[in-house]
Amino acid sequence: MFVDLRDSTGIGQLVINPERAAEAAAAAHEIRNEFVLRAEGEVVARAPENVNPGIPTGEVELQVDRLEILSPCPPLPFQLDEEGVDETLRLRYRWIDLRRPRLQRNLRLRSQMVSTIRATMEQAGFLEIETPILFKPTPEGARDFIVPSRLQPGRFFALPQSPQILKQLLVISGFERYFQIARCFRDEDLRADRVQELTQLDVEMAFPDVELILGLMETMIAAVWQAIGVELETPFPRMTYADAMLRYGTDKPDLRFGLEIRDVTEATRGSEFQVFAGAPAVRCLTVPQELSRADLADLEELAKQWGAKGLAYVIYGEDGEPRSPILKFLSEAELAAFAGEPGTTVLFGADTPAMVARVLGAVRQHLGEQLELIERDAWRFVWITDFPMFEWSEDERRWTAQHHPFTRPTPESEALLDSDPGAALAVAYDLVGNGEELGGGSLRIHESELQAKVFDILQISPEQQRERFGFLLEALRMGAPPHGGIAFGIDRMLMVLAQEPNLRDTVAFPKNQAGVDPMSGAPSPVEEEQLAELGITVVARDEAE
Ligand code: AMO
Ligand code: AMP
Repeated sequence: MFVDLRDSTGIGQLVINPERAAEAAAAAHEIRNEFVLRAEGEVVARAPENVNPGIPTGEVELQVDRLEILSPCPPLPFQLDEEGVDETLRLRYRWIDLRRPRLQRNLRLRSQMVSTIRATMEQAGFLEIETPILFKPTPEGARDFIVPSRLQPGRFFALPQSPQILKQLLVISGFERYFQIARCFRDEDLRADRVQELTQLDVEMAFPDVELILGLMETMIAAVWQAIGVELETPFPRMTYADAMLRYGTDKPDLRFGLEIRDVTEATRGSEFQVFAGAPAVRCLTVPQELSRADLADLEELAKQWGAKGLAYVIYGEDGEPRSPILKFLSEAELAAFAGEPGTTVLFGADTPAMVARVLGAVRQHLGEQLELIERDAWRFVWITDFPMFEWSEDERRWTAQHHPFTRPTPESEALLDSDPGAALAVAYDLVGNGEELGGGSLRIHESELQAKVFDILQISPEQQRERFGFLLEALRMGAPPHGGIAFGIDRMLMVLAQEPNLRDTVAFPKNQAGVDPMSGAPSPVEEEQLAELGITVVARDEAE
């Protein structure tokens, strides 16, 4: 009888010969998948026909003398090598799911990543300091998780969306180089690349300049990738936010493929095609093949889902002749400006610059995947710089912070804060790796007047400023050095490093897409008594509305 016995290092083969070990053979009849065994015997070379070159132990086997069943296992809810198992079932039995090689590998890589990060940060003179989990709201653009206080009835803590304010205070306290592997909590709607409970490498330093921060972080990233045997080339390239939006339609461009967007607004200014003539921005994307009608219809559908009114196109045949439903409106000069090579399709977006970027960015990413243009084993990192300070929120009819309210404007932009906040740029930077935002940070405002002014622009009233951020404004008045920093999503970094499509499989016990843990049933109701102690009454949603 042969048994594959697995431990955390891999698989070894047991051979049980009834003539050699009758008792062991009797026990072996009981064995089913995932039983826990203890076997004793002699390690011997396998017969040549039994050698398995596919595994490290493939040349040997254990000839069993004694066999003991330490723990049985009923039939599993799913097999370890089964593909496409429903996620709820996987999470319900996470302890089984975690036995799969892919998840074993992910968690090993995660542990290795965190230890490499600690080593490089300590090497660079950063001190690891913990900050509280029970705190006040720290805005990073998501909703807060709140925790009621029993000792102060009617009052609540918020779980930190990041240690942002606390790390600034630490630098003001004289800890010139701080880092933390920090848990952050954001009550946001979940997506494949977004979780509610994330882990950051959080970094802050005094007297920095941007070059110093980016350089230190490149060293850290290079060390993390080196631990999996990849030598990254540093420094990483840089691109301004404006350039990224223009050429890739997104601030997290996947540079593992080209397919750049081109602006043809000037060339189409006086177009007879009214859609082009009337649009604030016209941009195009040249696809290196003649797309079929069906492909074009699908792409137009996709463009519309992203908010476009249409997706005009010109196909350049092998003979170089353009074909298009809008050909009759297009002048020679326009066709020349589109510069379609023979055997290509040029796709157009015409709308506001933001909408065109959004739509063509989505079409570009889709085509990169569909046409398999993405170089799958490449590592392409890029710093995105010069973000706008503010974003206009149509819903709230006010400016919101593009990063967070503590981000410093560039020296040239300080004068614009009063006259044209929308044009002000921030000293902020994001690191993008293979199309994922891995980290982001900035130089901070270290002057309380400037901080108050930015709060004013964000329409945070003086009372709110005092109530929410009074301690920070006060600290900024008491000898605050210039400072700045960055935070990386450890989960996101692992997702890219392990080429793992789902962020949830970078942690041991994730919640599902609805924010629920199918294993424990959390979040769950609590006893009346506990609620009473907290002074909380639960009101059914329709009663509340
Ligand atoms: P930011 O909000 O950009 O910046 O977060 C930094 C990094 O954390 C990761 N991240 C997430 N990962 C998974 N799920 C989420 N919901 C999620 N939200 C963020 C991303 C992101 O790049 N305090 C600032 C940093 C600073 O200015 O120093 C901050 O938290 O990888
Ligand atoms: P229409 O004139 O509406 O029949 O559109 C002619 C072509 O232009 C169709 O292929 C549309 O998909 C496309 N189109 C319409 N509006 C836009 C737009 N805002 N941007 C890009 N293409 C558009």
